[in-house]
Amino acid sequence: MPDKIFAENILQGKVAFVTGGGTGITGGIARAMSEHGALVAITSRKIENLEAMKNAIEDAGGECFAVAADVRDFEAVRNAIERTAEHFGKIDIVINGAAGNFLCAADQLSANGFGTVVDIDTKGTFNVCRAAFEELQKSRGQILNISATLHYLATPMQIHVSAAKAGVDAITRNLSVEWGKHGVRVNGIAPGPIEDTEGMKRLLPDARKEKITRKIPLGRFGRIADIENAALFLCSDAASYINGVTLVVDGGQWLQGTSLG
Ligand code: COA
Repeated sequence: MPDKIFAENILQGKVAFVTGGGTGITGGIARAMSEHGALVAITSRKIENLEAMKNAIEDAGGECFAVAADVRDFEAVRNAIERTAEHFGKIDIVINGAAGNFLCAADQLSANGFGTVVDIDTKGTFNVCRAAFEELQKSRGQILNISATLHYLATPMQIHVSAAKAGVDAITRNLSVEWGKHGVRVNGIAPGPIEDTEGMKRLLPDARKEKITRKIPLGRFGRIADIENAALFLCSDAASYINGVTLVVDGGQWLQGTSLG
């Protein structure tokens, strides 16, 4: 895959607010958006988790505003959105990437464990969308929710994340209808297994990885760059008539029913 698929100015002057933007898939999306002309705000629970990405974006000549907020806390989210709008003057793109995950069998999972992941992924996504609505309405902007394919079939050890991401997909569809009339597009991406993330290294032992790879129709795990490219496309004007879609980027993996659990 070439380094750059898209023209470098496809997001010129856009302001992107990216939750979970310090690391992993959403960190990659934040950096890719900056490389394609966007001014980027990144947020995470702890400001120190944002420093490396802020430095990387700025060292490459981009502009990055780092602001701490726990997406479960609506007031903290509202504050982060307000500070971003003050800093950059507007918000055009919101990426909901903050997520919690761990492997746990349903009969071992506590109610609080289930609720914690739903709070981060589902309620957190709603909180950010809701807090950003006025800014997005003004800019006729858009939302991109990072989902998963876990809930399309059934993924053992992942009942909490599956339920949470099913909720995220419902938010994507619902808001695309309710907010489309305000000119706000709402879409999602459902990544399959992405090999170069901390989460995947933690969740998947090498032996299982090999077995799963054999069952992925395209014969390889995804990479963060695959998700970056999908995000750039969906957030660019090339996708200006795409609304309410969750784009699966998994090499065809879920259709084979290969579970990570
Ligand atoms: N297995 C089972 N239950 C777990 C768990 C695990 N590995 N990790 C957390 N939980 C449960 C806790 O036991 C607790 O429930 P309890 O009070 O009934 O014991 C509940 O989840 C909340 O855990 P806590 O650590 O207090 O919550 P937190 O808000 O500080 O963090 C996570 C929640 C999910 C973010 C945390 O577990 C975590 O750091 N995970 C790894 C990082 C991550 O998820 N990154 C995203 C990759 S996609």
